Amino acid sequence: MSPAIRTASSEQLSAFIANTCSKSSHLLHVLHELQHRFLHISPEAVIEVASFLDLPPSQVESAVEFYSFFSTVPHGRFDILLSNCTSCGYTANGQDLLQLLCDRLHVLTGKTRDDGLVSVDETSCIGMCDHGASLLVNGRPVTGLDAVKIMRIAELIETGTPFENWPAEWFDISDSIRKIGLLLSEDITAGNGLRESLMRGIDGTLEEITQSGLRGRGGAGFSTGMKWKFCAEAEGSAHYVICNADEGEPGTFKDRILLQSHADAIFEGMTTCAYAIGAELGFLYLRGEYRYLSPHLEAVLARRRVQGLLGSSILGRSGFNFDIEIVVGAGAYICGEESALIESLEGKRGVPRNRPPFPVTHGYLGQPTVLNNVETFVAAAHIAQNGSAWFRTTGTMKSPGSKLLSVSGDCAYPGIYEYPFGVSIKQVLDDCGAEDVQAVQIGGPAGTLIGRSGYKRIIGFEDLSTGGSFMVFGRKRDLLDIIVNFSRFFAHESCGFCTPCRVGTTLLKNAMNKIAKGQGTQYDLDEMERIGTLIKRRSHCGLGQTAANPILNGLQRFPQIFRQRLARGDFEPSFDLDAALEEARQITHRDDAAAHLE
Ligand SMILES: Cc1cc2nc3c(=O)[nH]c(=O)nc-3n(C[C@H](O)[C@H](O)[C@H](O)COP(=O)(O)O)c2cc1C
Ligand code: SF4
Repeated sequence: MSPAIRTASSEQLSAFIANTCSKSSHLLHVLHELQHRFLHISPEAVIEVASFLDLPPSQVESAVEFYSFFSTVPHGRFDILLSNCTSCGYTANGQDLLQLLCDRLHVLTGKTRDDGLVSVDETSCIGMCDHGASLLVNGRPVTGLDAVKIMRIAELIETGTPFENWPAEWFDISDSIRKIGLLLSEDITAGNGLRESLMRGIDGTLEEITQSGLRGRGGAGFSTGMKWKFCAEAEGSAHYVICNADEGEPGTFKDRILLQSHADAIFEGMTTCAYAIGAELGFLYLRGEYRYLSPHLEAVLARRRVQGLLGSSILGRSGFNFDIEIVVGAGAYICGEESALIESLEGKRGVPRNRPPFPVTHGYLGQPTVLNNVETFVAAAHIAQNGSAWFRTTGTMKSPGSKLLSVSGDCAYPGIYEYPFGVSIKQVLDDCGAEDVQAVQIGGPAGTLIGRSGYKRIIGFEDLSTGGSFMVFGRKRDLLDIIVNFSRFFAHESCGFCTPCRVGTTLLKNAMNKIAKGQGTQYDLDEMERIGTLIKRRSHCGLGQTAANPILNGLQRFPQIFRQRLARGDFEPSFDLDAALEEARQITHRDDAAAHLE
């Protein structure tokens, strides 16, 4: 790494910020630019950003500390993050790709090499599970990793080869849509849904969305029509629309595909919502891992402005003014939680707010805000264009419409499958070519692990509600390893705000590691149950409230996978107590038998 980069002066920093950003730039945008150019964000950079954006330095500093894509110590010129998702994983044919990469590049995980050329670390699922093991290099995804590709990547890095000379196909992320249904079978015609909505009027539009029975596709399943109505009725100096494209649930990638190939429908849904609630500004909060999609999304927004579908007097309707900004997140799963996302949009740490009040009355900048998932807005655009009766032709009474599933793991055809709600797990497994299945995880790590006896269960709010993750685990998988992976995920992603979650997720992770090492006892299982129940009851937000699910669920449905790894004794400490006393023995100059534990 050039010393000039490490020691950029205040003048250099300030000139760089002024050249690449504007006074209205979002804090995260400025920090992304700095991280990219200077490979870290120095204390001097914090001061310059604060002065440029007119923010308190403490706010900038705490944002830098919070988001995992920013760093106060320099990263390598090639900055690699390998996904440790349990579904696509960083192993290929049993080989640990992370270790292989670190060995080839002579770098330790989580460190930057002394010459500043490269840094390597692991990260949570990057939303590429349909393409196998994946990594981000300087924020750009490279998928389909195997040992050969990893060795080639190491060579290209070692020779300092610029990305233009890397194989272009490595950066091509295809759609992998395997089954189309109500939403994917035909795209909307840009503007058609909006024209229909203008004809229905505001009340008519709200009624149409409510009548469709559309429920949020982000997981919780709240009625979209009700949400829009509550927001429309709420008093405020301004109303806002936010699209949650933070898609961080491991094993989920359906929003990525909608963003890539159905952006018009997303923006049409957001604009329909803006019309219904009286908003003039909207945001699409894009997860940092999907930053590579930003130019494409900006291009679609630019085209829609030219088409008169965004901006002032949309479709010639005086007073109907609305535009959309894209804000790119920075590697914090918790920012998918709606109130944390709003905090992040406001340029703060993504710490969930107390609820109530809910965003519909007190959202962005304390004003009434509708926040919906990407798929929800796509469905709303289709409903605006085709009507609620059309939407209700598929699905079940309690779950009208269709659901996009992100299918990954041990199956022949991973990818996106759109089904009418009510489809059975068995049907999905048959379609994706899954054989010899041991279990299926529905709804990501916080969801449900289901064995053979549950394959008749259906996807729908009346049974298994899901944000869309459908992970298949074959017989060769060790289910305990999967639960260990999930417990690490939650400990890593806990935002640290409240004690039950911050401490509890780490205790659960440690206990799971102990059991995986064969050192656990019945005492540890009882403790995990006790701590898990406590985290569930006492945590501040949905992350903590569901973080113990994989363990509690596993203990209940698959007790044998824990029991068969238990050590014999009733209690086994998770560390070597005698070794821990070594320092005390040295200080007291004792090494006799009485100074050792038996
Ligand atoms: C820890 C956590 C992460 C979440 N991540 C997402 C996400 O990535 N995308 C999403 O749409 N909703 C996510 N949600 C749910 C949102 O809080 C919110 O309910 C949803 O975006 C509302 O949109 P909908 O009504 O269209 O589903 C998350 C919730 C929690 C607790
Ligand atoms: S439950 Fe966890 S993620 Fe949620 S606020 Fe508390 S510490 Fe943060």
